[in-house]
Amino acid sequence: MHTVDEVLEKDRLSRDDMLSMLSLSSGGDIQKLYDAAYRIKRQYVGSKVYFRGLIEFSNICDKNCLYCGIRKDNTGQQRYMMSRDEILDAALWAYDNGYGSIVLQSGERTDPKYIGFVTDVISSISKNTGAKLGITLSLGEQDLRTYERWREAGAHRYLLRIETSNPDLYAKLHPADHSFMRRVQCLRDLKDLGYQLGTGVMIGLPFQTQENLVDDIFFFERMEIDMIGMGPYVIHDDTPLAQAAAECDKQHNFELSLKMIALARIMLRDVNIAATTALQALHPQGREQGLLAGANVIMPIITHKKYRELYQLYNDKPCVNEEAGQCKGCLESRIGSINEVIAYNEWGDPPHYFRRTTGRAMQHP
Ligand code: 5AD
Ligand code: SF4
Repeated sequence: MHTVDEVLEKDRLSRDDMLSMLSLSSGGDIQKLYDAAYRIKRQYVGSKVYFRGLIEFSNICDKNCLYCGIRKDNTGQQRYMMSRDEILDAALWAYDNGYGSIVLQSGERTDPKYIGFVTDVISSISKNTGAKLGITLSLGEQDLRTYERWREAGAHRYLLRIETSNPDLYAKLHPADHSFMRRVQCLRDLKDLGYQLGTGVMIGLPFQTQENLVDDIFFFERMEIDMIGMGPYVIHDDTPLAQAAAECDKQHNFELSLKMIALARIMLRDVNIAATTALQALHPQGREQGLLAGANVIMPIITHKKYRELYQLYNDKPCVNEEAGQCKGCLESRIGSINEVIAYNEWGDPPHYFRRTTGRAMQHP
């Protein structure tokens, strides 16, 4: 049995090492894990924090994931769709405020009207910012042609969480017509089209084991993922999974999420890793702690205040009563408090993307 220090000095952790890191329980040992990840982050991606302004432009969704508050069958949920001009305004706000890029997120729809609308939105953001604002999409499973159209319109990154890399667990969290294999195929299609590719999982799900989480990291590695966005599973009361999750321990899920961020950084090194909003739903300093455990990206919500509370995937979503400007000021002081710097006006591409597409490592300045 190795000590924590011995494990963290290794060039590559074994499966058993990873399991032992996830089950650390002493505060001192856990801190060593975070510190090791933080050192690797500084070495491979530097100490700048990259912002992605998150625009949640619609909560209309055709799917029924059993954990999600905006699932189609949640009929108590009021639905909205922002107009093209509202989305463009939010994107221009991000651009004017020096955010290197934005993320367009919505519930999943695949009808031609929606696909055309999104294409038009991407083109106009690209045109109005001289293609200088990075555009990331988080719009679920689409066919290859749609991904291609959106890439041609100006999007260059795509986030599609696999949610869990274990097909059996995936089946327990989704209705029978939601296919794990189809989701994996979407990730492959996105990669083939040249997108910078992001995925992630939820942590602390009912029925999920630590073995599943270790397999998730191997999945990221095997799929050559450039960007990781993972966070704790947080109950939403009006969902079928809420009952199964009644025993969900928030503190445990929070800590497990930080350990996963640290392990992902240690194993994958030059990828971008987001400290997600869900971390802050469980802990007031959740995102800062994520940065200290190895994350280097934050996705401040810039959705207009009037829509924010309607986009609730889980209970206790933070920042629902804030305006985008308030979030910016608040994040600046939070990030300053841990002695990191926000990178304004930079895309902040993950070095991993260049390494996999050119075969060469990109030196971090
Ligand atoms: N808790 C945490 N994350 C959730 N998501 C959806 N519902 C929840 C929840 N209850 C995440 C999923 C999805 C992303 C947009 O939000 O991982 O991919
Ligand atoms: Fe829709 Fe995404 Fe929620 Fe699933 S997780 S119900 S696809 S918004």
